[in-house]
Amino acid sequence: MIDNFTYNTPTKLIFGKGVIKDLPKVLAGFGKNVLLTYGGGSIKKMGLYDKVKSLLKGFNIVELSGIEPNPKYDPSVITGAKLCKENNIDVILAVGGGSVLDCSKAISVCAKFSGEGWDLISGKVKAKESIPIVDIITLAATGSEYDMGCVISNTAINDKRGYLDELMFPAVSFLDPEYTYSVSKWQTACGTADAMNHVLEQFFATPNSQFNDGVMISALKSLMANVKVALDKPDDYSARSELMYICTLACNGIMSNGAGYSGWPMHSIEHALSAYFDITHGAGLAIITPRWMKEILSEKTVERFTTLGTLLFGFDKTLSDMEMAGKVINAFYDFFESIGIPMHLGALGVKEDKIEEMADHILANDSTNEPYMFAPLDKPALIRILKASM
Ligand code: NZQ
Ligand code: ZN
Repeated sequence: MIDNFTYNTPTKLIFGKGVIKDLPKVLAGFGKNVLLTYGGGSIKKMGLYDKVKSLLKGFNIVELSGIEPNPKYDPSVITGAKLCKENNIDVILAVGGGSVLDCSKAISVCAKFSGEGWDLISGKVKAKESIPIVDIITLAATGSEYDMGCVISNTAINDKRGYLDELMFPAVSFLDPEYTYSVSKWQTACGTADAMNHVLEQFFATPNSQFNDGVMISALKSLMANVKVALDKPDDYSARSELMYICTLACNGIMSNGAGYSGWPMHSIEHALSAYFDITHGAGLAIITPRWMKEILSEKTVERFTTLGTLLFGFDKTLSDMEMAGKVINAFYDFFESIGIPMHLGALGVKEDKIEEMADHILANDSTNEPYMFAPLDKPALIRILKASM
């Protein structure tokens, strides 16, 4: 069944080899004053920084570099907003992974706000305006290039917030899979795990439909096959292009139009883990996924598992539903392990003595226990999932 929905994504996608040749034309539509944002140097190593600078000779460019993975409100968002105000910035050009783009999205609204930017990010105050964003995404993972969300950490209060506003849809996203050839094995695996989890967060919902299920299972199949190819051969264009396009679509909602909303519980848990221990987002999700699945498996939810078992993994239909579900959970565990993710949070530096505090934090900031959710999680359930993930 496809239930009522509204769908709107105003972002233009420009995809393929060499597409950034159109960057000057695209940026000129917004103005001359550009804030160029990037991370810790990967774009310099791969030659993309020089390429962008040579394409943008006629523009006034101000730079914000050093944006961290799990981007921080202080200093990155605060500094970027200040640079925009001081330099009358017309457009932000984000070049990098999801962290660079998320930080740029937060800057785009904070720069047009006279109060404390964290009031916007934490949802206390609604933004009224933003600076347009153009991006060149260099890591297939978050889908930030095609959604209206950003995730920002505030280390002073151990918080990591997902913040949504239509004002933050990028105006134009350039997607050239060749710029992902240099992504490390670790980030390739974690980025794919992130996108797989985006699909699963939407798949575990009711109502659901044959059409959406088909799209999501096809996405999972391609992600799982192509990440293996990309890990073996980082410059395989076919694999990198499939990963990039699916990651772009996976967080946008287009795969679950008309379906129920799960509440994205695994993301709520992972955001607390990154807030407390600054771990890599996709790795945290991969570790939580099979433990969350085990926790929510019941007669009520088992159909989602059997659908994955038959359509994604091709398991024997004569197995009992619960046997099939168990095999599905193990298959995800084994898959994530096979692409190099250590399947225990302890290996990422997470400490068991913070579990209770994190569970309180999740319930207070990013609730997982609402009745409308597919499988609500109370505090004991969150603690069980986190303990099992250690
Ligand atoms: O900082 P640089 O030097 O650029 O290096 C980055 C960084 O160290 C590197 N990298 C990026 N592109 C590369 C590259 N290295 C070599 N070659 C390239 N082409 O990879 C490292 C990780 O980058 P990062 O941007 O942090 O990774 P990702 O894209 O996975 O973003 C993760 C962040 O996005 C948030 C996560 O919580 C996390 O903070 N999310 C954002 C979402 C959204 N906006 O919709 C949804 C997601 O669920 C997620 O929560
Ligand atoms: Zn994610």
